Amino acid sequence: MAEWRCVTNASEILEGRINKARAGNLNLILLVADGEVFAYADACPHEGHALSRGELQADVLICAKHFWEFEIRTGRHVSRVNRPQCNLKPFAARRVADGIEIDVSGSGEAADEEEN
Ligand code: FES
Repeated sequence: MAEWRCVTNASEILEGRINKARAGNLNLILLVADGEVFAYADACPHEGHALSRGELQADVLICAKHFWEFEIRTGRHVSRVNRPQCNLKPFAARRVADGIEIDVSGSGEAADEEEN
């Protein structure tokens, strides 16, 4: 079951920028392509470096540490060396009124909040 959390105002995220957001202890990046929002954990699947410190080149996010590349709509690893198990960890995202909501179910954040 989805656990939607509002993580930011829609007006605060921009296309062409790596937008940071948080849901509890969960650090996220929000990427926008043609108005659609894509959310991923702010951790590179290689060694965990913050992807928010990376760079965008068109529809590709490049990690700043070892330059692995990821397609922003799918999170798929697209560097020249094929690493099929190294895609970004995605979270469902949606626009609701003026906000951006992320489905945090399965992340540990949903359970953490219920315990408080
Ligand atoms: S930590 Fe991102 S490419 Fe190595």
